[in-house]
Amino acid sequence: MKAQEESDSDSTSLTSDFFEIINNRRSIRDFTDKPIPDVILKKILTAGTRATYSAQLCSIIYTSDKEKIQKLRKIGVYPTTQTLLIFLIDIRKLERLLSFYGRKHTLDREVSIWLGLQDVFLVISNILLAAEALGLSSILLERIPIHSKLVSETFNIPSRVIPAVGMSLGYRDPSVKTEIRPRYPQETVVFEDTYRDISEYEMNHLMEIMDSGTFKREFYIKERVKVLLKQKKGESDFSPFSWLDHVERKFFSSHWTKISIGKILKYLGFKFKKEEDKEQ
Ligand SMILES: Cc1cc2nc3c(=O)[nH]c(=O)nc-3n(C[C@H](O)[C@H](O)[C@H](O)COP(=O)(O)O)c2cc1C
Repeated sequence: MKAQEESDSDSTSLTSDFFEIINNRRSIRDFTDKPIPDVILKKILTAGTRATYSAQLCSIIYTSDKEKIQKLRKIGVYPTTQTLLIFLIDIRKLERLLSFYGRKHTLDREVSIWLGLQDVFLVISNILLAAEALGLSSILLERIPIHSKLVSETFNIPSRVIPAVGMSLGYRDPSVKTEIRPRYPQETVVFEDTYRDISEYEMNHLMEIMDSGTFKREFYIKERVKVLLKQKKGESDFSPFSWLDHVERKFFSSHWTKISIGKILKYLGFKFKKEEDKEQ
């Protein structure tokens, strides 16, 4: 009886630790210069490779090489990064495996990217939480695919391998205060049995939460970061703007409007066949 009670209390404390990790996690942009011990890094990467998968299309390149990390600062890699991870959609490996066993075909299909992204983000989720559990912090880096040429050259990534997203990893700098950021209220994100449009009241409520959580605290002014729009030159003032401004800009930002995903995939060696729209 005692042993059972003990294991129940152990699992309860483990469970609460797990949820505490999820609820307290925040993206960190400033790291100390403490290197990540190999045994810890190995444990985090192993947690990543244990993620569930649709086709095991995710490969990871990691580096603690300061020169490489500094070279990639211009594409958004944070300068105090201790270890940089590049998550890849690795179509090439599966194609080589299929051809090695005499299954001759290429995977120039939109579904390859779809399944690849699913695998990449499952691996990332495991790594994000494993890092937190081991006292490390991280932040994802969205501009990596835009700069596929530079990233591929830096890490000798061959064609038919897509650098999908990056991650800066390290021990957070305790002198830099980073707040937990809000999320949309759960009832506006989670629906039972059927989809529903959120009400105008909920939209206002949601925006209050998002703005009060980050923007009223002028996060972007303090960090002097603002998604610059392509068409608006010289609009670099940092007058407070809302979550809505921020998320709207993401889709029209100078980064993402400079290049098409199609061109990136072509550069990486893909020629997608037009998928026939068959009736569902
Ligand atoms: C796929 C992805 C890419 C991201 N890219 C960047 C980035 O390039 N630079 C950055 O400062 N934050 C980046 N972030 C971090 C988001 O800004 C952050 O996750 C979001 O504001 C929520 O904050 P939190 O993670 O602290 O809760 C990225 C997040 C995700 C999920």
